Formats: sequence, structure tokens, C-alpha cells
Amino acid sequence: MQQGPIGVFDSGYGGLTILKELKAHLPQYDYLYLGDNARAPYGTRSFESVYQYTLECVKHLFDMKCRLVILACNTASAKALRTIQQKDIPLIDPTLRVLGVIRPTCEIVGNYTKTGHVGILGTSGTILSNSYPIEIEKLFPSIQVYQEACPMWVPLVENNEYENDGADYFIQKNINELLSQSPQIDTIVLGCTHYPLLIKKIKKFLPSHIKLLSQGEIVANSLVDYLSRHPEIENVCSKNKTYTFLTTDSSGNFDEHAALFFGETVKSSHLQL
Ligand code: DGL
Repeated sequence: MQQGPIGVFDSGYGGLTILKELKAHLPQYDYLYLGDNARAPYGTRSFESVYQYTLECVKHLFDMKCRLVILACNTASAKALRTIQQKDIPLIDPTLRVLGVIRPTCEIVGNYTKTGHVGILGTSGTILSNSYPIEIEKLFPSIQVYQEACPMWVPLVENNEYENDGADYFIQKNINELLSQSPQIDTIVLGCTHYPLLIKKIKKFLPSHIKLLSQGEIVANSLVDYLSRHPEIENVCSKNKTYTFLTTDSSGNFDEHAALFFGETVKSSHLQL
């Protein structure tokens, strides 16, 4: 069967924090990144819009020979992954695979909490979907999950305002609201791939005993494990260490901001949907 790059999809820049770790842990593969920057943020959009946009982008990645696509976006994983896996892939080509970021994150939560009280920070879409409490309940029924939607955090990051004083107000407010739900929270999941850029400020407002989990390394380790258990998928991932970046918005803007997320200079091309 024909080989192709591993597709990595996000609404915008956030998935680059995942790609950075995939590069560190799985450097042998080719990667094709697609950011739907023209329609970001997804976090406040309806279930139907997130599903339609995600499916459209995933189909482009399939057309560009990706046989495995990672939804490096919690909002898309929460609102579109299941339908794409169960309804769309069987019709398009049952040998294709799409994986998300929520399940691998939930799988390791139990390794960190001692109190059994876990907090989730995410976009409104992710939080309202209840995907984290539902998945954690299946894996660790005794863990109590507390959630807080942070609708301003992605716009702060996308607009490059995240290091300014204005960001402090929203970050402190959402963290306090999460912590007020239970004084026993000892582990917090950054359930949005944009949030690693906010870690410095988040830590400023968080008691130091609370463990912060960000997803890049978790998703990379989970993919290492997945590929070792699925040689039929591993065999169709091409291995030339190339990185291709596509954005649905201006490639100039993308290149200017992407380095902050990816940790190195990026040269993207525009994809017209
Ligand atoms: N990076 C996406 C996530 O992990 C959200 C960004 C958005 O709102 O578009 O949820």
C-alpha cells in the first residue's frame, strides 16, 4: 500500500505544540500539518460547524496521502472525532485512521492524582461536550473531575497578547474559578493545545503543589505505543523526516506566529478550501 506523511490537524497554531513533541519522540516520519487558521477559533463554534470543518480538513489530508491523521485539537477531538471514526471513515476508506488527543490524556490522569480530584481547563466546546469527565469515568471511576471553560485563552494566544498584563486577569479568573470547585484538586489538565504557551502565567496563579499536565508529550508517547501495536499503520507512514505546513489563512501570518508554538522557523503554504 502507498505510504504517506502523518497528518496533524488543528484549528490554528495549537497543534504545533503537539507536532513539536511528535518530532522529538518520532523523528523518523514525515509530517503534514494543517491549521484551519481562517476559521479559528473553533472553541466557541457549534458542534455541527466543528464537525463539518474538521471533516473537510481531514479529507484534504487524506487526499494528500496521509493514512493516519492526528486531531491535535481538543475541540475537534471532542466534537468531531467519534463521528469521523464511526460514520465517515467506513465510507471513505476503512483502512484510514484518525486519532484524537483526549483519550490518551485521560489514560494517564490516574498516574498523577493522589487526592482523586482532577481539574480540566479547555475551550467552551471541549468543556460543554463533557468528553473529559466521560472518558475519565470509564477509566478511573473513582476520580472526581472539575471543569472550567476558558473562552478568552485561545484568542489571547492567537492574537499574541498572552504575555501582556491583560492576559493575567483572564488566566487568574479561570484558575480561581476551577480551584473554587474543590480545594482537593491536585492535578490539572491543560485540555487545549494552545495552552502550553500560557504555562508561565498559569503557574503564577497556581499553588505549586498542583501538577500541570500538558498534552504534547502525552500524545507523542501514546502514538509511539499505538504504532508499535499497529504495524499495518506504521508501515504506511513514510519515513524521510520531512515537515510540510499548510494553513487555510495567510501563510505569511502563519510563519510569523508558528515558530512560537513549534520552537523553530516554519515555512508554510496556503491551502484554499
Ligand atoms: N487548540 C484547540 C484545542 O485544543 C482549540 C483552539 C480553538 O478554539 O480553535 O481545543
